[in-house]
Amino acid sequence: SDLETPAPDLEGIRVLVSAGGTREPIDPVRYIGNRSSGRQGVALAAAAAARGADVVLVSANIEQSVLDDAIHPRVRIEPVGTATEMQGVVEREVASADIVIMAAAVSDYRVAKVADGKLRKENSRGKGMSIALTENPDILAGLVQEHRRSGLTIVGFAAETVASEEELVERGKRKRARKGVDLLAVNAVGWNEGFEAGDNSLIFIDASDSVTGAVQGSKREVADALLTEVLRARGNEPL
Ligand code: CTP
Ligand code: CA
Repeated sequence: SDLETPAPDLEGIRVLVSAGGTREPIDPVRYIGNRSSGRQGVALAAAAAARGADVVLVSANIEQSVLDDAIHPRVRIEPVGTATEMQGVVEREVASADIVIMAAAVSDYRVAKVADGKLRKENSRGKGMSIALTENPDILAGLVQEHRRSGLTIVGFAAETVASEEELVERGKRKRARKGVDLLAVNAVGWNEGFEAGDNSLIFIDASDSVTGAVQGSKREVADALLTEVLRARGNEPL
């Protein structure tokens, strides 16, 4: 029925979505990771495909039961592990994209020297330990700097721990400007919100640093609202 079939307003549009959380190895059995489940990015891929888009989903460590929601004839899934791997795939795939949405939680650092064998407790002799980290490339900032072209809309996500709505907007505006993206979707996270939750809430900040909207709902509803916002942002620009 009409209720179940969304308008094909993304027909012929190619969408690249990154989702999940990258993992940086410490040794053969351990990694540094984060709490992103990938659900919001998977919902974006599914919603875009349902609206007619051709989608590439760069999936970082997403559980299969979550990834199943993105299975669709117009979605191609490209699995990656680390931030460096994600950067390689994203920079390759961006050439044939009209919209890039970086929904993945990308590790800001990687381990400076990955151990060949398992790190053993006996080697630290009860003294504790520390691990030296190296900064990872900023994939999103790299896209804006190296791959920006007319017709390409670049969208970032920011998960922020904040004390108030005002602080959320302030931090969002600063991050939007720092990254130079066309649109930034910002949500509040904390110990009890944002990750495993079925519901999500986002505010949108556009290239003129205006808050252009806010949405609260299921991850699918939030995904559809974000895609509509992206179309609006594209309409404001000479393509
Ligand atoms: N991002 C990226 N590459 C990184 C880090 C982040 O592409 N190495 C992307 C994320 O996918 C997201 C956006 O940048 O779309 C914002 O990520 P966030 O972690 O909020 O921003 P940072 O610049 O890393 O700032 P901080 O973590 O200090 O808040
Ligand atoms: Ca970060």
